[in-house]
Amino acid sequence: MKDTVLIFDTTLRDGEQALIASLSVDQKLRIARQLARLNVDIIEAGFPVSSPGDFESVSTIAREVDGPVICGLARLVEKDILSCAKAVKPAKRPRIHIFIGTSAIHTEKKLRKSEDEILELVRVHVKLARKLCPDVEFSAEDAGRTGGDFLCRIVETAIEAGASTINIPDTVGYTVPEHFASIFDDIFNRVPNIDKAVISVHCHNDLGMATANSLTAVAHGARQIECAMNGIGERAGNAALEEVVMALKVRKDYFKLKINVDTREIMRTSKLVREICSMPVQPNKAVVGSNAFSHSSGIHQDGVLKAKKTYEIMTPQSVGLKDNRMNLTSRSGSHMVKSRLLSLGYSESDFDVDVFYLKFKELADKKGTVYDDDLITLMESKNNDDFKDRYVLEYLNVSSGRGTIPTATARVSFDGKSMQEASCGDGAVDAATKAIDRIIGYKITIENFHIDSITEGREAQGRVTVIARASEGVFTGTAASTDIVEASALAYMNVINKIARMKLFNRKLPVGE
Ligand code: KIV
Ligand code: ZN
Repeated sequence: MKDTVLIFDTTLRDGEQALIASLSVDQKLRIARQLARLNVDIIEAGFPVSSPGDFESVSTIAREVDGPVICGLARLVEKDILSCAKAVKPAKRPRIHIFIGTSAIHTEKKLRKSEDEILELVRVHVKLARKLCPDVEFSAEDAGRTGGDFLCRIVETAIEAGASTINIPDTVGYTVPEHFASIFDDIFNRVPNIDKAVISVHCHNDLGMATANSLTAVAHGARQIECAMNGIGERAGNAALEEVVMALKVRKDYFKLKINVDTREIMRTSKLVREICSMPVQPNKAVVGSNAFSHSSGIHQDGVLKAKKTYEIMTPQSVGLKDNRMNLTSRSGSHMVKSRLLSLGYSESDFDVDVFYLKFKELADKKGTVYDDDLITLMESKNNDDFKDRYVLEYLNVSSGRGTIPTATARVSFDGKSMQEASCGDGAVDAATKAIDRIIGYKITIENFHIDSITEGREAQGRVTVIARASEGVFTGTAASTDIVEASALAYMNVINKIARMKLFNRKLPVGE
């Protein structure tokens, strides 16, 4: 058995199926190019027969993306296979992936066919696909709930007809690792021609076991994992690419298997998929969540400062991050605070750590998280006035609606003096921030804009978080209001006041991730 596990990415097929809006050809191409940079082995680019747009996406990716095998999906239906063959043809290494439901619930209720009829369909359509393409994958949909005898006959038939990859999907996320292991053991022990194909696994996450099941399948002989970036896919999603890949890398001592993926491209790919698919990632998501390399407790921070391996099983650099993040809160110890001040460019003679730590604790109790710009303000401030916001939003009027051009008028006071400006924009928030920009004159790029509902119902309060870049560094601003445009403008003002303080102290934040 080979010692490399192939990574088959289905972000653009199973993943895209689950999005509210389908992706354009251009968006799919951008993701496919990044997947090629990530060095996945196979890209499943779409389901060509499902729409002219999907056909075009698959054929464009097949033509333009070099490196991975480019694969399209098809049912065991002649027109699907013909369309798929045409779409993947321009690829240097094309693959047709065909599937049919094999569990009793699928064969009896959905397909209304006997087992023998299904076997015949497999034989005929794998052969047809093989005539059109040298690389054919066959999937027994809902294999996790398919009877052992029938599954073995299906696998044997598909291999005999010419499939070189056989995929065993847990389509509805029903299996548990030990049960799934027995399915793979059964196939490997009972199918006589099993050595003629690569056995693949495709798990869904309905019970949160997609990664565990995929890795179990690998431990029991599978050599291809089908997965999607950030775990997107039907319902609860597919096995997350970043999880299975990092598990194989971090636990190479256990699996003793290789992967071809360049894991340093994981973060970049994850961010691109979030942005293009409008599918955010929960902060505590394994590997790619914003907290995945953050340490909050004082005990953990102290441990990591002494030896990273105390609380980090993989390095942030291995997934493409610059470094880990230590969240400074009232739970952080003085050792951590001192280390952060040193990394901000202060030297030990600039502060008395015990005195500074008391000031820090007071601020942390009030604010929760203490950011780098707060620490600098705490260090540099000569008096309490330095903490006050120099820019205050006094007035904001925004008009927007269907058929109108969003326009905003803002009045901001600076050290007591008022200034007013108006601007149009792409939306109400854009118009408001542009009007504020005209008054302030800083060059600011908004990198991330996020709204959370913090109370329930129609009158819910929205908390807006803005992450923005200026020449002084990257700043986070937050504000809450029942009016989200007002909350957005106030969060933006929060960023502006942070930049104003850095300008006042003539300081810059270190470059982040
Ligand atoms: O979940 C599934 O069974 C699938 C197949 C088409 C492979 O997505
Ligand atoms: Zn699936």
